[in-house]
Amino acid sequence: MKYIIYPPKSVGEAKLKARFAGRWVVVTGATSGVGEALTLRLIQAQANLLLIARNEARLQALCAQAASNGCQARYRAIDLRQREQLDALCAELREELPQVSYLFCNAGKSIKRSISDSIDRMHDFERTMDLNYRSLVALSLALMPSLRNAQGRIVYTSSVSSRYPFVPGWSAYHSSKCAANVWCRTARKEYKSLGVKVQVAYMPLVHTPMSDVNETYKRMPAYSADEAACVLLRLAMSEKFCYKPWWAI
Ligand SMILES: NC(=O)c1ccc[n+]([C@@H]2O[C@H](COP(=O)([O-])OP(=O)(O)OC[C@H]3O[C@@H](n4cnc5c(N)ncnc54)[C@H](OP(=O)(O)O)[C@@H]3O)[C@@H](O)[C@H]2O)c1
Repeated sequence: MKYIIYPPKSVGEAKLKARFAGRWVVVTGATSGVGEALTLRLIQAQANLLLIARNEARLQALCAQAASNGCQARYRAIDLRQREQLDALCAELREELPQVSYLFCNAGKSIKRSISDSIDRMHDFERTMDLNYRSLVALSLALMPSLRNAQGRIVYTSSVSSRYPFVPGWSAYHSSKCAANVWCRTARKEYKSLGVKVQVAYMPLVHTPMSDVNETYKRMPAYSADEAACVLLRLAMSEKFCYKPWWAI
């Protein structure tokens, strides 16, 4: 069953090296799950990395691992939902990285709660929007000159569930992912003339700390974090606009 719904995903190290070695790659959500697996693959491929998330100890450890493998690696430990922190980061990155070949906007948060249980929880909607949508837009705008200089790409980790008919309980998460999907589809058209590609991975279930808090999801077949990282990397090496599982119509 797993192999039909989740056909295995992999990507060869030589291919990754040929594509990513020596290029500057920015990864948000690098400390856990899909983003961490992606970062480990990029370290093997000897990419130069700017890693973003909140867990400073994990960011430091990943940068040390990257440096010992011959990569240049830096990190920013920030909460992407905090607008002042994000604005300051955007201003810094513009100065610091004149060329960025790939921006993987992967940091995300999911919340499952019905609207009727959210009466005093406007912050659920603000937090998902700030992280899943606003940080994508802010970083993409800030890094546009650097992406243009490198003829680079923005790769957004969306969710296949944002393509399903609407499901009760997921209004905050799906609204933020759908907003990001629409932004990416628009940016794809507008940025084409600048030589910058925008790509979206409509990711199915992946076993990560985010999804495994739900006991039902934990028991369901799913991709591993490394397979999901391979999905992102294969998309970033392809000319396709999006990845979606074969069964997602
Ligand atoms: N897992 C799935 O089944 C699944 C399915 C479809 C799509 N996705 C998408 O895949 C992406 C990665 O999710 P995951 O499953 O790998 O989740 P995860 O294991 O929980 O990792 C989330 C990452 O985002 C970072 N992050 C969370 N809040 C942040 C904040 N406020 N500021 C900065 N960084 C923050 C976390 O780092 P810190 O805690 O260090 O900040 C962590 O590195 C998300 O966009 C998610 O929506 C996941």
